[in-house]
Amino acid sequence: MKTMQDDIQSVLYTEEQLKECVQKIADKINKDYEGKEIYAIGILKGAMIFYADLVRAINVPVAFDFMAASSYGKGASSSGEVKILKDLDFSIEGKHVIVIEDIVDSGLTLSYLLRVLQSRHPASIKLCALLNKPERREVDVKVDYVGYDVPNEFLVGYGLDYASKYRNLPYIGILKPEVYTK
Ligand code: PRP
Ligand code: MN
Ligand code: MG
Repeated sequence: MKTMQDDIQSVLYTEEQLKECVQKIADKINKDYEGKEIYAIGILKGAMIFYADLVRAINVPVAFDFMAASSYGKGASSSGEVKILKDLDFSIEGKHVIVIEDIVDSGLTLSYLLRVLQSRHPASIKLCALLNKPERREVDVKVDYVGYDVPNEFLVGYGLDYASKYRNLPYIGILKPEVYTK
């Protein structure tokens, strides 16, 4: 029987490495937000595994909220337009917001969401991404907390998908090119 693992060329970060990496990010956040409350915004769906692990390593109070966005023309040519599919449930006015992403690629999603969120007057706003792919950047986005800078490969697992698949792999792997070039 063919398994998800058969589509993976190699493992880039194991479950253990990811756990350590998430803890390191949480350590920094715990220091920076001592005595404060965090309003953690997860960007669905990719960020949800990282989000769930990260918030459990944070030891200051965390309010949960989520947004879903989709960028038009993803893949072939990016128009830079982003559509909000699901907005926040509550106001972020006066809150200490951290936006949590699985990966920053072109930067289009985050730069757009950041502009929208800034206009709602949070007390502060920072960006946290497990993975950062600087080679693919099209717009400048400053990511405050980053786990790893990654090579320009097709990565899946730990929330990251290809055609809605592979998100539930517990590690991050490089997808075999034959899977997405057909
Ligand atoms: C992926 C990823 C980031 C975004 C990064 O989400 O999870 O949210 O793309 O790309 P960018 O920097 O080029 O904007 P996707 O749109 O695939 O949705 P998903 O999270 O539901 O997989
Ligand atoms: Mn996403
Ligand atoms: Mg995706």
